[in-house]
Amino acid sequence: MSNLEKTLSIIKPDAVERNLIEEIKKIFVSNGFNIVKEKKVQVSKTEAQQFYQVHQAKPFYNELCNYLSSGPIYVMILEKNGAILANREIMGATNPIEAKDGTIRKIYGISIDKNSVHGSDSLDNAKKEIEFFFKD
Ligand code: CMP
Repeated sequence: MSNLEKTLSIIKPDAVERNLIEEIKKIFVSNGFNIVKEKKVQVSKTEAQQFYQVHQAKPFYNELCNYLSSGPIYVMILEKNGAILANREIMGATNPIEAKDGTIRKIYGISIDKNSVHGSDSLDNAKKEIEFFFKD
């Protein structure tokens, strides 16, 4: 049975800065994801605040928005059967220290903030996040 889903992936400023875009894309492609759309952008603080609105009550919200807007990011729509969960598995735990061996955050993540990648956590958020970056 097919369960084709789209999810949003962001390669965060720490990874873009270290020229890891191609390496990280290769991990997604070799794990069966189709990269439907992709672009490099830099968001303003206001845009970062909108994007991470679900976290607005969290103590780390301000830092998080400063960080996402601190440099270029690489955004992608990834497609695969069960893409949302599959992407979260490949990314690994939010905190790189807790991420399993072989996951993107374990390999490249520097800290809980500089954890190299973001991925949508549900079908609903995937739709919202894709719409946020790819309106057409
Ligand atoms: P991300 O998947 O982009 O979603 C929100 C981000 O907040 C998360 O990755 C982390 O980089 C960041 N963050 C910072 N501190 C925390 C924390 N204590 N718990 C969860 N996420 C955090």
